[in-house]
Amino acid sequence: MKDIKKILVGIDFSTQSKPTFLYASSLAGKTGAKMIVLSVINQRDIDAASVYSRLVGKTAISVENFTKQEIERRKTGVDRVLKEIGLADIERKTVIKVGHPYEEILKAIKELDVDLVVMGTRGETTHDKYSILTGSVAERVFKHSPVPVLSFRGE
Ligand SMILES: Nc1ncnc2c1ncn2[C@@H]1O[C@H](COP(=O)(O)OP(=O)(O)O)[C@@H](O)[C@H]1O
Ligand SMILES: [Mg+2]
Repeated sequence: MKDIKKILVGIDFSTQSKPTFLYASSLAGKTGAKMIVLSVINQRDIDAASVYSRLVGKTAISVENFTKQEIERRKTGVDRVLKEIGLADIERKTVIKVGHPYEEILKAIKELDVDLVVMGTRGETTHDKYSILTGSVAERVFKHSPVPVLSFRGE
């Protein structure tokens, strides 16, 4: 088996995020792997900001500023969530991308030479924990990832 040197954790700030972080960080600790935290800002949200900006005019935030603010907000969000679960000092690299979440996750797996992906089975939209369906991002990554994907169900 190939050594696990880099673990990519997909974070969407849903309730799955904390247990997923705890699991991934414990796995990183046990394998000696580096943890890379990836959060993708959905292009859909940028498009919505752009439409809003056009409708409201000058007073609205520009798409560039919205994107910059959202990148910072997510970086701070990762630090905050890790702090809340007692992992403030864990070694990690935080990467924020903009695009379609599953595409960006698949691209990052290749670009960052990741050995294993850890993600939740669900995110912010699949609420029924007994649902036979996984979230749409999770499903696409499971189907297309060139490296093993560990899905964390949480509670
Ligand atoms: N924008 C995102 N950036 C990074 N990881 C994500 C993103 N969206 C989802 N994920 C990962 O995929 C998991 C499943 O989420 P998803 O498939 O989007 O389910 P849902 O359809 O319920 O929102 C999440 O727990 C998270 O690990
Ligand atoms: Mg989702």
